[in-house]
Amino acid sequence: MTFALAACGGGGAGSGDETTEPAGNGGDTAAAGDQTIGVAMPTQTSERWIADGDAVKSQLEEAGYTVDLQFANDDIPTQTQQIDQMILQEVDLLIIASIDGTALTSQLDAAGAAGIPVIAYDRLINGSENVDFYVTFDNYNVGVQQATSLLVGLGLLNADGSENPDAPEGPFNIELFAGSPDDNNAGFFFNGAMDTLKPFIDAGTLVVPSGQTDFDTVATLRWSQEAAQRRMEDLLTSTYTGGEELHGVLSPFDGISRGIITALQGAGYGPTLEEGLPVVSGQDAEIASVTLIDQGVQFATIFKDTRKLATESVRAAQAFLEGNEPEANDTDTYDNGVKVVPSYLLESDIVYADNITELLVDTGYYTAEQVEQGS
Ligand code: BGC
Repeated sequence: MTFALAACGGGGAGSGDETTEPAGNGGDTAAAGDQTIGVAMPTQTSERWIADGDAVKSQLEEAGYTVDLQFANDDIPTQTQQIDQMILQEVDLLIIASIDGTALTSQLDAAGAAGIPVIAYDRLINGSENVDFYVTFDNYNVGVQQATSLLVGLGLLNADGSENPDAPEGPFNIELFAGSPDDNNAGFFFNGAMDTLKPFIDAGTLVVPSGQTDFDTVATLRWSQEAAQRRMEDLLTSTYTGGEELHGVLSPFDGISRGIITALQGAGYGPTLEEGLPVVSGQDAEIASVTLIDQGVQFATIFKDTRKLATESVRAAQAFLEGNEPEANDTDTYDNGVKVVPSYLLESDIVYADNITELLVDTGYYTAEQVEQGS
C-alpha cells in the first residue's frame, strides 16, 4: 500500500523518487519482457553460426527478452534488408554478426538516429560511429594458434607450443590460405599466423613454393569451401607437378580445410596424415572437421566456444538496456576506422586428436557419438 502510494505520488521522471523503480531496471527503460532484440547472423551454411544463433536466442529468452533472429544466407542485400526491417519494427537493441563489415553504414546510421544500441558480434562492423560494443575472441591469437598447430604438426614445435630442440631441419613446403577479405577478422587471423610463421620462413625452414604469401592473393571470398578446393587444385597443378611434395597448409576455417583436404586427396595425397596427407589447420571445431581430426585426417582446429560468446553478448545487451555501459576488457585493438570500439575478447583453444574429449565432449559441446559420426 505504501509502495503503491509512493509510486503514485512520486511524480514523473526527475522527481528523485528512485525507490519506486523495479530493481535492476534503471531509468525509464521497459522491463526485459517488453523488449525485443534483433539478432542478425550471416549464414546457416556453416554450423558455427547456427550454434551462435541458437545460443544467443536461448540465452536472451532466458533473460526475459523477445528475440527476432535472422540468418542472411551470406547475401549482403538480405542482411541489410533484415536489419532495416528490425529497425522499422523498433527493436530495442541489435546484435549483428556482419557478412561484409563495411556494408552496414546506413543501417547503423538509422539505428543510431533511433537510439538503438548496436553490438557487433564476433565480426567488427567498420566505418561507423554507431557500433557501441564488440564481443569477440582474441582474433590475432586465433591466428597465432592456427600457425602454432601447423608448426606442431610439422614437428617444429612441441604440442604445448614450446620450441622443439630435436626439430627436423626441413625445409618444409607449405601453402597459405586466408579468410574473406570483407571480414575484419580475416586480417587478424592472417597477421597472427604470419607473425608466427615468419621466423621459420626467414630461416628457410618453411618455404612457400607458389610464392603466394600476401593477404589479397591468398584470401577466400565468403570463406567458400569450393573456392578453397579450386585454389588448392590450381596450386597443385601449377607448383607441385615436378615431384615437389607439399607438407602443410595454413587454413583459417574448417570449411576451407575440408576443401583443401578434398583437393589434396584427389591429387593422391593421404588419405590420412599417417599416409602422407599434409598437415592442415582449421577453425571453429565444426563437427565434420572434429571427426576428421579424430580419424587422423585434418590435423587441428581452433575451438571458440560460441556459448561463451553468446553469454558475453547477452551481458552487454542487458547492460545497455538497463542504462549502463558493458564491461570491456580491450579498449585499444579494434579501431573500425571511425573509433576504437570497446570490446570484450574471449580466449580460444587448439584442438588436436588427443584433446577432443577434454575440450569438446567433457564440456558438453558435442557428444562422443557426434564426434564419432561427424554430424
Ligand atoms: C569467424 C570465424 C569463422 C569465419 C567463417 C569469422 O568471422 O570469426 O570463426 O570461421 O568467420 O565463418
